[in-house]
Amino acid sequence: MANNDNRSNASKQMKGHGGQGPGHGMPLGRPSEKAKDFKGTTKRLIKYIGQYRLQMFLIIIVTISVTVLSVIAPNYSRFIINDLQEIITGTITQDVGVARILTYFYLIIGLYVLRFIMSLIMHLMGNKISIYLGRKMRNDLREKMEKLPIKYYDSRQTGNILSVFSNDVDVVTNSIQQSLINIISSFFSIVGILVMMFLISWKLTIIALLILPLFILATSQVAKRSQAKFIRQQKQLGSLNGHIEEVFSEVKIVKLFGKEEDSFNEFQKINSSLAIDMRDAQFLSGLIRPIMEFISNIGYVAVVIVGGILAGATNPLLVGDITIFIMYQKNFVNPILNIANVINQLQSTIAGAERIFEVLDEAEENQDFVLTNFDQSQFHGHVVFDNIEFSYNDDQELIKDLNLEVAPGKQIAIVGPTGAGKTTLVNLLMRFYEVKSGHIFIDDIKSTDYPRSILRKQFGMVLQDTWLFSGTIKENVAYGKPDATDEEIIEACKQAHVHHYIETLPKGYDTVLKEDADNISKGQKQLLTIARAILFNPNILILDEATSSVDTRTESYIQNAMNFMMEGKTSFVIAHRLSTIKKAHVILVMNHGKIVEQGNHKELLAKNGVYAELYNSQFLNQPI
Ligand SMILES: Nc1ncnc2c1ncn2[C@@H]1O[C@H](COP(=O)(O)OP(=O)(O)O)[C@@H](O)[C@H]1O
Ligand SMILES: [Mg+2]
Repeated sequence: MANNDNRSNASKQMKGHGGQGPGHGMPLGRPSEKAKDFKGTTKRLIKYIGQYRLQMFLIIIVTISVTVLSVIAPNYSRFIINDLQEIITGTITQDVGVARILTYFYLIIGLYVLRFIMSLIMHLMGNKISIYLGRKMRNDLREKMEKLPIKYYDSRQTGNILSVFSNDVDVVTNSIQQSLINIISSFFSIVGILVMMFLISWKLTIIALLILPLFILATSQVAKRSQAKFIRQQKQLGSLNGHIEEVFSEVKIVKLFGKEEDSFNEFQKINSSLAIDMRDAQFLSGLIRPIMEFISNIGYVAVVIVGGILAGATNPLLVGDITIFIMYQKNFVNPILNIANVINQLQSTIAGAERIFEVLDEAEENQDFVLTNFDQSQFHGHVVFDNIEFSYNDDQELIKDLNLEVAPGKQIAIVGPTGAGKTTLVNLLMRFYEVKSGHIFIDDIKSTDYPRSILRKQFGMVLQDTWLFSGTIKENVAYGKPDATDEEIIEACKQAHVHHYIETLPKGYDTVLKEDADNISKGQKQLLTIARAILFNPNILILDEATSSVDTRTESYIQNAMNFMMEGKTSFVIAHRLSTIKKAHVILVMNHGKIVEQGNHKELLAKNGVYAELYNSQFLNQPI
C-alpha cells in the first residue's frame, strides 16, 4: 500500500465507481500534494478542455445514470426475497408469487444490461477526453518551448521541464476522467442509497446514520496522524536519494579522502529513521480500515437487532427488506471514503495542471516580425557594439559602457578570467538575451531590426560542450544544411581534419552516434561540430572555448581546422590558452564585464599590462 504511485492509485479507484465499493488497495491516510490555487486552476482546466466540454457534460449525465441504475437494481432483489418469503408463509399463492418474481427477474437483468452499456459509454468517452487532453497539453508545451527565451532554460534544470512534460501531463490526463467519474458516482451513490434506505425503513436508516459521526471522527483522526508520518517518510526518502546521488557523483572524492565509513554511517542513520517512519505510517494507515469495519459492524448489529424487533411488529419488515437494507448500509460508507480519496487525488491532479499552466504562462521571447525580401548578400560581418549595458539580474550590474567595432573578416579574440563576461558578449550578439541599453549593429543595421531567425542564421557556433544528437555522422554534420550533398559533407569533414578518422569507422559516415555520443572521443566530437560549422558556412563565427577540454595534440588539429574555417570571416574566439589566439587581429582583455585592454598580441605585450602578465604566466607554466 505504501508504494502506490498516482497511476495505480487512480486505477484502483476506478474499480470503485458506481458506489459498489472502492478497491481495497487505496492508500488511506496518505497526504497529497496541495495545489496553490485549486479553484482557479480547476476553472482553467475546464476551460482548457474547450471543445470537449460538451462530452464532459455527457459523461456526467451518463455517470449519474449508471449510479442510479446501480443503486436501484438491488431494490428488486429485495422484492424477490420478500415474495419468496410470502409464498413460503402462504401470504400469496405460488402462481402469483412466481409471476411476480419472474417480472422482477427480467427487470433486474434489463437494468444490469442497461448499466453495462452506459458504463461502457462512460469509459469510452472518458478515455477520449483524457487522450485528447494529453495530446493537446504535450503539443502546447512543445510549442511553448520554442517560444521561451534562453533565459528560461538557463535558469532551470532540464529535469524539471522533463517532469512537467511526462509526469504532470500523465497524472492530469489519467486522473481527470477517473476523478470526475468517481466523484459524481460517489456523490449520487450516497444520495441514492440514502433514499433507498429511507424507502425501506426510516427507523433503521436513523440508526444506521447514528454511527456516521463516530465513523468520520475516528477515521479522520487516524488519517491525520498517518499523514504526518507519510510526510516525514517522504522527507527521509528525499535525503536518502540525495545521499546516494552524492555518493555516485563524488565517489572518487569520498574514496580519496577515505570517507567511506563516515559516508556509510550517515547512510545508515537516514535509512534507520526512514524505516521507523515507514513502519509508523504503515501501521497507522493500516489501522484505518479495521477501525472503519469495526464501527460499521457495530452499526450492522444495531440494525439487525432493531430490524428483528420491527419484523415482529404490527407493520412488519420482511426478510428481503432487512437483507437489502444491510447491503445498502454496507455500501454506504464506501462512497464516503471514495470522495475523501478522490479529493486527495484531485489535489495532486490540479497541482500537476498548475505546473503545466505555469510553463504555458511563462513570458515568451518577444514576438518576431517577418522580414520579406531579405538579401543574404548584404551581410559582410561588420559588427559594432555601441554603448552596451546589460545584466542578468537587475541587482547585479555586469556589462556597462561597452564599445567595440569589428571590421568584416577580422578575428577578434576575447580573453579574461572566468566570469569576466565573455560568453555574455556572445549571448548578446546572438540575441539569446536582449541588451538593456545601447545597440549592436550588424552591417549597420541594429540587430533588433533583424528577425531573430535571420540574425542567428548568420552565425556559426562551436562551443566547449559539443552538441551531437543521436543519428548518423552524416546527419549530424549536415544539421545546419540539410540539403547538403555527400560530396559537400565529405569536403567539410576533410577541411575539419576528421575525414580520415570517419573512414576508419566500419560504417563510415553512416556510423550512428549515440545520444550522448560516447562512442567517439571529445576531440573528434569537436572536429565534427567544426565540420558542421564549415558546411553551414556562416558569415560570423563564434568559438567559445572550443578547445578547452581536449588535449594539446587534438587542440592543434582543431586549431588548424578552425584557422581554415575562420579565413575571411568575422570571428569571435574565446580561448583559455593564449597561445591559440596570438594571431588574432584584435585581442580584447575582459574583466568584470569591461574591456580592460585592447590591441594585437605584440601591442599588448609591449604594454606590459594585464595581458602580458597573463601570457607570461601561462607561457612559463607551459609544459613544452
Ligand atoms: N544565465 C545567466 N544568468 C545569470 N547570471 C549569469 C548567467 N550566465 C552567466 N552569468 C553570470 O554572469 C557573469 C559573466 O558570465 P560569463 O559571461 O559566462 O563569463 P565568462 O564566459 O567570461 O566565463 C558571471 O558572474 C556569471 O555568473
Ligand atoms: Mg564562458
